Amino acid sequence: MYYAPYLALKYLRYYLTSSNGKGHGTHSPFIFDFITKVLNDNSPYKEYKQAEGLRKRLLSDSRMFIVEDFGAGSAVLKEQERSIKSIARNAAKSKKYGQLLFRIVKYYQPATILELGTSLGITTTYLSLANPASKIVTMEGAKEIAAIAKLNFRQLDISNIELVEGNFDNTLPDVLKGTNTVDFAFIDGNHRRIPTENYFQMLLPHLHNDSILVFDDIHWSKGMEQAWETIKNSPDVRCTIDLFFIGIVVFRKEFREKQHFSIRF
Ligand SMILES: C[S@@+](CC[C@H](N)C(=O)[O-])C[C@H]1O[C@@H](n2cnc3c(N)ncnc32)[C@H](O)[C@@H]1O
Repeated sequence: MYYAPYLALKYLRYYLTSSNGKGHGTHSPFIFDFITKVLNDNSPYKEYKQAEGLRKRLLSDSRMFIVEDFGAGSAVLKEQERSIKSIARNAAKSKKYGQLLFRIVKYYQPATILELGTSLGITTTYLSLANPASKIVTMEGAKEIAAIAKLNFRQLDISNIELVEGNFDNTLPDVLKGTNTVDFAFIDGNHRRIPTENYFQMLLPHLHNDSILVFDDIHWSKGMEQAWETIKNSPDVRCTIDLFFIGIVVFRKEFREKQHFSIRF
């Protein structure tokens, strides 16, 4: 992981060099739509309240429990005592990105969604509420955390989520064996170069023209930046959108030339 000051410098560079996020001068209809109808959609969707209600509840839950710490990666498996609120504070995507993921799913309506890294299920809740007709498979290695996420889904009466427990290295191949196509995937766990590249390779045969992948923390470390470059250079990838804290990958053939965008968000 990069030191905070270095990451801040990187963010500053992104902020100064990325396009302004208004869509002016954009020739690609896909990107124009993405910017104007998804990225900058400021509607106060009622579902936001439900997901943020869950976050609020978890942020005030001081109960402690022992968790297997998968940390950034999963090489070292140690156990440590954590409070629910510290996990909610440190692991979940923020409101801003949770709501962006909600809008992506609401706009493109993917039928099959995968999430690598459930944690307490805050982002999964956003994904589910964005398209209740979708089938969501979310994956989590720490069984104590997975148990709380399952309880959260039950309490919110969400029924389109299947939570698969175990290390992605073991569970992802099985999940994909039972899945024809993946329309949308959020890869938000095990932020290391080789595992991230491997998950991308495993997902590739299941993707199609309209599939969208979102990778978390693409600038978090040298390894993640290398993985992001590998993904950008993959011949199947037609377009990428770098929002600094997440990277979006698009496979649409309408992009005859590969295009990489960095957009301020
Ligand atoms: C950043 S959190 C996910 C946050 C969640 N997507 C959200 O926004 O609410 C990453 C999760 O991935 C899990 N994880 C990390 N590496 C894993 C692996 N190799 N197999 C299974 N789970 C893993 C961790 O236990 C952690 O709960």
